[in-house]
Amino acid sequence: MASKKVIVVFGATGNQGGSVARAILEDKDICVRVATRDVTKPAAVALQDLGAEVVKCDLNSKEDVNGILKGAYGAFLVTTYWDDFNQEKEIKQGKTVADASKQLGLEHVVYSGLENVKKLTKGKLEVPHFDGKGEVEEYFWSIGVPMTSVRIAPYFENFLNLWKPVKASDGDYYNLMLPMKDIPMDGICIADIGPAVASIFRSPEEFLGKAVGLSAEALTIQQYADILSKTLGKVVKDSKITPEAYEKLGFPGAKEIANMMRFYHMKPDRDVQLTHKLNPKVKSFSQFVSENKDNLLK
Ligand SMILES: NC(=O)c1ccc[n+]([C@@H]2O[C@H](COP(=O)([O-])OP(=O)(O)OC[C@H]3O[C@@H](n4cnc5c(N)ncnc54)[C@H](OP(=O)(O)O)[C@@H]3O)[C@@H](O)[C@H]2O)c1
Repeated sequence: MASKKVIVVFGATGNQGGSVARAILEDKDICVRVATRDVTKPAAVALQDLGAEVVKCDLNSKEDVNGILKGAYGAFLVTTYWDDFNQEKEIKQGKTVADASKQLGLEHVVYSGLENVKKLTKGKLEVPHFDGKGEVEEYFWSIGVPMTSVRIAPYFENFLNLWKPVKASDGDYYNLMLPMKDIPMDGICIADIGPAVASIFRSPEEFLGKAVGLSAEALTIQQYADILSKTLGKVVKDSKITPEAYEKLGFPGAKEIANMMRFYHMKPDRDVQLTHKLNPKVKSFSQFVSENKDNLLK
């Protein structure tokens, strides 16, 4: 009997990797090997219970990365930025996986990339958590790794924490504080990323060498506010905050998010139609709000 293809999933104990690992685990012809720094953590044990092989691996260790990728057909890679705002670390980890993939002859890597905004705007705009991923995308392709980049829209789940509408101080309503202007912003539920990535792994010939922008839908801030108001039965308003005012809010990452919004004002390519083809069950923002009614207002 032919042995099954192995797909290694980095970040599987987190949002994106967890979604991808769960989706691929449904394919009985594939072995899912997940990477974690702590094989005893509940998220790792849960994946093991679902049939994944769980392997201790630190993305900062070339030895670990080479070890986990040995014998694999493919890999899904997501790297983190927001835990320590460390762009250099992200780039180094991405390049480590790219080098190992090349050396070991992986046939398909799906990388959670984003645009190199700094390069695209000739230095006018810097969005470090985009720029680093853009550099890694270019590196993967430049050394000839068969790779698809998935450029993932902001999670709808951001509305459960950072973007949660805030109670107004001057009346019975809530403010949605996002410097979007009138330009639609894409979004997607975390759980819907995995099935889309699994579809990409099933059609390498269609997606190798490409960047695919994943998005369930793109809405204006007024549309986001209207859906929240209608479903939650409370008035949610666009605060009309500008990027200039947003970056002065001063919390860690405020400037970066303001710049990310400035980049979204340039309408980067996110393909709603293709995303629905890759995952026909992808949820709308309205469905997301209905399912999270109790956690959406501060
Ligand atoms: N928030 C959004 O709307 C959005 C949208 C698009 C893209 N993104 C990007 O998504 C990325 C975060 O992804 P996420 O939300 O899936 O993150 P997450 O839920 O915080 O999960 C992070 C994962 O990375 C793993 N990890 C971290 N450091 C590691 C290391 N040194 N070695 C091995 N594994 C390591 C963790 O595994 P262990 O702890 O088990 O080792 C964990 O599974 C960010 O770079 C962000 O820019 C976010």
